[in-house]
Amino acid sequence: MDSIKIRGPGPLKGCISIAGAKNACLALMPAALLTDQPLTLTNTPRLSDITTMTRLLQSVGVEVRSSQEGRVLTMRARQLINRQADYNIVRKMRASILVLGPLLARTGRAAVSLPGGCAIGARPVNLHLQALTRLGAEIQLDNGYIEATANSGLRGAIIEFPSVSVGATENVLMAACLAAGTTEIRNAAREPEIIDLANCLDSMGARIHGAGTHTITVEGVPTLAGGTHSVIPDRIELGTYMLAGAIAGGELMLEGGRLDLVGKFVEKLAEAGVGVSEAEGRIHVQRNSDRLLPVNVVTEPYPGFPTDLQAQMMAAMTLADGVSRIEENVFENRFMHAPELMRMGARIEVSGGKAKVTGVDTLRGAPVMATDLRASVSLILAGLAAEGTTTVNRIYHLDRGYEQIEDKLSACGADIRRIA
Ligand code: UD1
Repeated sequence: MDSIKIRGPGPLKGCISIAGAKNACLALMPAALLTDQPLTLTNTPRLSDITTMTRLLQSVGVEVRSSQEGRVLTMRARQLINRQADYNIVRKMRASILVLGPLLARTGRAAVSLPGGCAIGARPVNLHLQALTRLGAEIQLDNGYIEATANSGLRGAIIEFPSVSVGATENVLMAACLAAGTTEIRNAAREPEIIDLANCLDSMGARIHGAGTHTITVEGVPTLAGGTHSVIPDRIELGTYMLAGAIAGGELMLEGGRLDLVGKFVEKLAEAGVGVSEAEGRIHVQRNSDRLLPVNVVTEPYPGFPTDLQAQMMAAMTLADGVSRIEENVFENRFMHAPELMRMGARIEVSGGKAKVTGVDTLRGAPVMATDLRASVSLILAGLAAEGTTTVNRIYHLDRGYEQIEDKLSACGADIRRIA
């Protein structure tokens, strides 16, 4: 199994380009199931999660063509030969559940294996299923599969989510496009990826209002057309490299990212003493002083501080000049990076969903391993600032969400390489 070796500490200086958003792309690809016409996505990231979604779509009969070295994907669901998303694919990636709504809406039947994915808490799918049931689906669980049917089609309804879910909002948004009548989604997720999905669906002929607010209204249409849509930039990749600049020092220019998509995150960076400015399509990041300042962070749905940047923020705070408090409110059990950071000399006390991080003067390199994507990258960030060699194992998690991370960082002066 591959690992990544980093020898630190050292500042970063250079330019990094930000790829298309993984999470936006994973929701946009299943939208191809809603039409028999081709849907083309541009600015697609080259990641193993995208390969997994490609395989999943192919397994139900979607033709997928990749061009421009994986930057453009054209999908056509002319005929759906199979309406079952198989365990062997779904277990690799939880976002596979996003084919459920569109498959059901288009064909009246779908079976999707209950998902696995990142080991961050229980991560149930009850909200997805409750919302689809409101649209008239009958749902049964059988042999580890969710079996959904809507023999006389889906019908618009009012859906009020008891708590915010990005994936459940996306699933029901897609399904509602082909339901008869109007659907109102209350307490909808407001993430930029939801807006991106709604924009793409609208360009295919859907009638959606209010995406990006708490209430989304969808007037169902009988069919959707194909289209071409450019995936928004990855705000989590952007935030991760901003924090790489913060922890390692130096000066980074980030190209292709959008600061307006990162919500409260930028305010927290400023509090930590990191200068961030945007000019001519590039984001400039530079730490203002020798040490970062401590910051308190509470993760929340968008536009709050993103849970997907919590681990990276914790890594940065391990070297801050004082005590930071981090509260994880979106997922249970999302501090698996803490014990690994502690092996590098960090001082962290975890109690339930709260962590107290007391900044230390130095981290020391160590062999480390993580069990999810963002935890893995937080260890890379720590390795950039630690004395000596850090070896990050189990890096297949990284390849799910970060394109060529070692190349991007080494081009900015980091001593980092992948070992087969
Ligand atoms: C998406 C992102 C993920 C991000 C998360 C929160 C993708 C592919 N992944 O995941 O990177 O960390 O949003 O911003 O876009 N929940 C339930 N029942 C459900 C669904 C969710 O209880 O049916 C809970 C989850 O366990 C979690 C919370 O709701 O505690 C939020 O999860 P959700 O927003 O659904 O996350 P995902 O869509 O899975």
